Amino acid sequence: MRADELRRTFVRFFEERGHTVVPSAGLIPTHPTAPLFTNSGMMQFVPYFLGEEAAPYARATSVQKCVRLSGKHNDISELGRTRRHLTFFEMLGNFSFGDYFKEQAIPLAWELSTEVVGFDGDRLWVTVHDDDDEAEAIWHESVGVPMERIQRLGAENFWEMGETGPCGPSSEIHLDCGPEWGEPGGPAHGGGDRYVEFWNLVFPQYYRHPDRSLSDLPRKGIDTGAGLERWQMLLDGTRSVFETDVLAALVDEAQAVTGRRLGTDEQTDVALRILADHARTMTFLVNDGVVPSNEDRGYVLRRVIRRAVRYAHRLGVERATTPALVTKVIDVMGDAYPELRRNGDFVGMVVEREEDRFRRTLASGSALLDEAIGELDGGTLPGEVAFKLHDTFGFPLEVTSEVAAERGVEVDVEGFEAAMAEQRRRGRAGRTPGSEAEGDDAYRELLDQFGTTDFLGYAEGETDGRVLAALPRPDGTLEVFLDRTPFYAESGGQVGDTGAITTPTGRLEVLDATYALPGLHRHVARVVDGEVVTGQEAHAAIDAHRRDYVKRNHTGTHLLHWALREVLGDHVHQQGSLVAPDHLRFDFSHYGQ
Ligand code: ALA
Repeated sequence: MRADELRRTFVRFFEERGHTVVPSAGLIPTHPTAPLFTNSGMMQFVPYFLGEEAAPYARATSVQKCVRLSGKHNDISELGRTRRHLTFFEMLGNFSFGDYFKEQAIPLAWELSTEVVGFDGDRLWVTVHDDDDEAEAIWHESVGVPMERIQRLGAENFWEMGETGPCGPSSEIHLDCGPEWGEPGGPAHGGGDRYVEFWNLVFPQYYRHPDRSLSDLPRKGIDTGAGLERWQMLLDGTRSVFETDVLAALVDEAQAVTGRRLGTDEQTDVALRILADHARTMTFLVNDGVVPSNEDRGYVLRRVIRRAVRYAHRLGVERATTPALVTKVIDVMGDAYPELRRNGDFVGMVVEREEDRFRRTLASGSALLDEAIGELDGGTLPGEVAFKLHDTFGFPLEVTSEVAAERGVEVDVEGFEAAMAEQRRRGRAGRTPGSEAEGDDAYRELLDQFGTTDFLGYAEGETDGRVLAALPRPDGTLEVFLDRTPFYAESGGQVGDTGAITTPTGRLEVLDATYALPGLHRHVARVVDGEVVTGQEAHAAIDAHRRDYVKRNHTGTHLLHWALREVLGDHVHQQGSLVAPDHLRFDFSHYGQ
């Protein structure tokens, strides 16, 4: 089945069942709790799961470009060695924001899998979370999956987007590909290449805090994810995702560029697959606004490009490798992602420059590395040397390790990380430390007791409500929590509202409004008159004049974004912004000065 056919079939199925088709978001997530890259379809919907924004639709479906290269979801070590892992892939998904839950999500997934695309129901196994009797009952009683093909798993069936954020138990559907792919016993016992997981149904109901604790989400939802390339592989019965239409074309291109053939030996096969995968990863990352650098996203991209060059180099390629691969990606994916064609020249230029620079680095860094290895008397390269190579020569640790391994030397990775951490510490010193170091317990209690704050500020500038708590802060101000509020809490770069809260006995000036926890509005306030106590009626009014200024600056960011794209080109992407009453800041990516 071709990729475009499967994308259409999936999305249409859910569209016919009341889901709004939402385009893929970019690979750089915008929510403050998000990890480095968009790793799943749910990421653009985080504000809806957290109740920070009203969802404009109750159900959605999408085909989301995803990168799994860092943090909790990183498939690089499996890449090219299994039949199913990729660092860039497309995720099909359906979502509910407080609308339907397990009772509908499970039968819908079964219907699409077995009746629409044609998976053989008798070869499907499902797993549910250890504690999820409900999901098990739906699979068995409503759908009719026999109990012997339903298994329970712990951590593997609890999905989290990253270190923080929405999460919850999940239930996965697997296809048994038969004994040639490994041991029997179902997904809980057999290997992942035999029982291939192709659809993950997540039931987000918790929020993971930085201290690892969980609290309830304002509303439960549904978040599912199905790897497009895996579905194609399983439906067509090919041996790996690299034989599906898009990736096969890229493997062909990798063969053309390197002059090597698949099936020569395992090492060549792995290298060709890595080139095919990395071609997409680098193309899409640059397209979405990442540029190679020594920090964060830029460093991950740099590693991808350099790793591809290294693999080509190992296959004996001495000339530019990436430009042809990037061109091929644009060629085979440009219909599905038209922005690739618009940005094509730019992407090609960025990648080519990086390859160029790396080929020069490789020459000088290799000399330094050879020298350092020559001076060793043991088999371990000190971490500081690896760090210097990284910091001064842009040699990714991985490359240092690979080159060292070729000479029979190991790298002291711990030492490297210590040197890296030391550099970060130096970078941080000098900044003002955060002022809020207190635990979340009091907030958690408020959420448990009263639920999320009712935010009325899109329509009203003033509301009447009740004081749920007024907690003193060390600096003499108060943190006030109301059942309903017109105060916008700082998020998405827009500052919180200021204004006043008045009760029968006192008057407060609100200095700022932020989220204490997702969905919980915290008013930071100063007592102007009298006192304010828990339980009182309260009149809350924002400074509407100031809000108007904020609104104008918000509009300003949109105009500026548009104008930058007009003048500099479509590659300009928003990376962050600050919207205040008296100014705005707009961060964007561009390759020139
Ligand atoms: N968010 C879930 C996943 O990525 C569906 O597996």
